[in-house]
Amino acid sequence: MKGIVFTSLSDMVCEQFGMDTWDDILELAKPSSGNYPVEELHGLVKAMSNILKTNKNKLYSSFGEYLAGVFVKKFPGFFTESTSTFELLMNVDQYIHAEVRKLYPDASLPKLDGVMSNNRKMTLEYESKNSLSYFAVGLIHGVARYYKEKVSVAMDHLKADEGEHVMFYLNLE
Ligand code: HEM
Repeated sequence: MKGIVFTSLSDMVCEQFGMDTWDDILELAKPSSGNYPVEELHGLVKAMSNILKTNKNKLYSSFGEYLAGVFVKKFPGFFTESTSTFELLMNVDQYIHAEVRKLYPDASLPKLDGVMSNNRKMTLEYESKNSLSYFAVGLIHGVARYYKEKVSVAMDHLKADEGEHVMFYLNLE
């Protein structure tokens, strides 16, 4: 995973729980520095879950929502180019992540296939060896917050050979 992911996780914990808590989490997870395989993110979230006594899926989701706010500041164009949550989500795979890949050729990105049924309903199919579907849930809520919309997310976990394969059912409220 890229440095921006880890920097943002440490920023979120330091802002919300203080630097001492982040030190405790690092102490418990012992990530190596420099290179960040996804296992290190999973290790940090596991340590956060122990220390903060919070469910891991909830933590991935909070972090996704927080990171969406970081993306709004760092890549505002992706947000102003779309006018709604669904429009941005339809653009993630083919456009936004494609641009991200140009910036960071070694980025580890999921497959995200969106299908709109109507203006209020869409499905988003997530497939990734990184198993970060709850992180995706948080990103979706963070994007909805930007457009001042409320989107409910239901999930269906499909069979995956490696990582996760999830169907998201999104409803604009
Ligand atoms: C402006 C918007 C966005 C930008 C700039 C962006 C950029 C990125 C970046 C830089 C990474 C990290 C890649 C790595 O560390 O190797 C990432 C990962 C990811 N992105 Fe996006 N992203 C955006 C929107 C979204 C949205 C709306 C979703 C919602 C479903 C999403 C889903 C994910 C997921 C789930 C990952 C984790 C990797 C994985 O599961 O395989 N992204 N994205």
